[in-house]
Amino acid sequence: MENVRGEPKSLDVLILAAGLGTRMRSDLAKVLHQLDGRPLINHVCRAATALAPQKIYVVIGHQGDDVEKAVLSEMNGDQYNFVWQKNQLGTGDAVNSAREFLENADSTLLVLSGDVPMIRPETLAALVQQHHRYLEKGAACTILTVKLKDPTGYGRIVRDTEGLFDKIVEQKDSTDEQRQIDEINAGIYCFDTRKLFSALSGVRNNNSQGEYYLTDVPDLLRKAGENVAIFNHNDSHEIEGVNNRAQLADLEIILNRRTISKLMLESGVSFIDAKSTYISAQAIIGRDTVIYPNVTIEGETVIGDGCSVRAGTRITNANIGYGVRILDNCVIVDSEIGNSCVIGPFAHLRGKAKMEEKSKVGNFVELKKTKLGRGSKASHLTYLGDATIGENTNIGAGTITCNYDGKTKHETHIGDNVKIGSDTMLVAPVTVGDGAVTGAGSVVTKDVEPKAIVVGIPARAIAKKSNEK
Ligand code: UD1
Ligand code: MG
Repeated sequence: MENVRGEPKSLDVLILAAGLGTRMRSDLAKVLHQLDGRPLINHVCRAATALAPQKIYVVIGHQGDDVEKAVLSEMNGDQYNFVWQKNQLGTGDAVNSAREFLENADSTLLVLSGDVPMIRPETLAALVQQHHRYLEKGAACTILTVKLKDPTGYGRIVRDTEGLFDKIVEQKDSTDEQRQIDEINAGIYCFDTRKLFSALSGVRNNNSQGEYYLTDVPDLLRKAGENVAIFNHNDSHEIEGVNNRAQLADLEIILNRRTISKLMLESGVSFIDAKSTYISAQAIIGRDTVIYPNVTIEGETVIGDGCSVRAGTRITNANIGYGVRILDNCVIVDSEIGNSCVIGPFAHLRGKAKMEEKSKVGNFVELKKTKLGRGSKASHLTYLGDATIGENTNIGAGTITCNYDGKTKHETHIGDNVKIGSDTMLVAPVTVGDGAVTGAGSVVTKDVEPKAIVVGIPARAIAKKSNEK
């Protein structure tokens, strides 16, 4: 990042994420609460990473180990440094925890709040740019602000008679008149790093909360004759903080609405009732796919063109081809479904289940870690676990792979063109050869030869099929 005179000015980022989040009334640290299926802090980290800064510091404290783990589950550890804040004495104290790493850095420091998750990298880049260009020389501090219809709870931006920055007043320390101000502090700032740490030494905790406020720093800088600038942004949703569960729920709705309208307008996906549908922002859905009411699509799910997903279905981290029909009330997790498959109603696929092209799984069928080959069918009331099933095989109603002996899981292998009779128990480990047939109610305890016909308990061969089909 270069300032206007072309001097290289490196960028560091500091994310505040040590707070308790008392207003969430939760045993879980606030920044670990999820928005769109990912911890709040990870949304902020993703925006920070997109700016390609020199270093990103995350101030951790309350449940700090878990916060660190959450960040590193998604972000590159080489770029991230975690700084402990021992006691949560306020946002100013949180920044101060990073003093030893930053106070002498000749950089611009972008300070972000771990509880303001919707912020976009483009907005941050514009903030940094204005900070560097302000009055040609750059500012000592630039504050991101926004006007809100209901500014309750936020720090208010007090401007002087010329409209320039005067100070930030926290809601709890504000006068009735100040509470009427609708321009709020987003909790996102750019600082000249050295000037920030020098001013921070002057921050006191003589306020209503007895905390060291970072929001006192701009005022101190201004009084020291430094330039303090305001970057007023127009998208208020981006700036909304999460301090309680009602705000979190609001953001969830906004994010979901954005995701769905993008899918409709840019990807050509139809929604019968967008309001009752939840779609992860990370999901990819193809053209002419129709999503019915009460569908939940989570994680990095991919759905191809021309599919339909009927009401009440949940799909999590699944990969689905084109022309797939998913009927009502299915649960599909960590699974792969080939083109033109039919699933449900009331089917459950999990644990890397794989359906090859044109295969079918019907009502009350569960597939776990099982591959169902091309054109094969398991239409009713069946459990297939740890199994591989070949092509054009029919699994009769009520079939169960008995894969667990109480200690270990065992595999079942079923070949191509097999007919498994209704209510067959396949006691694993067991293999059923190509073209074999099992009679209704058989309990298969031994491998079945190709083309053999087996019946009974335990199943025994009664015939072999002739060569014609
Ligand atoms: C803060 C600002 C307020 C602004 C609002 C925007 C202060 C004093 N107030 O208020 O002006 O309008 O954000 O969302 O800064 N944190 C720590 N250690 C602490 C305290 C907080 O790391 O000791 C972290 C929290 O985890 C959180 C962030 O700092 O991610 C903000 O803290 P929070 O308590 O939510 O401040 P607000 O009351 O929202
Ligand atoms: Mg907050």
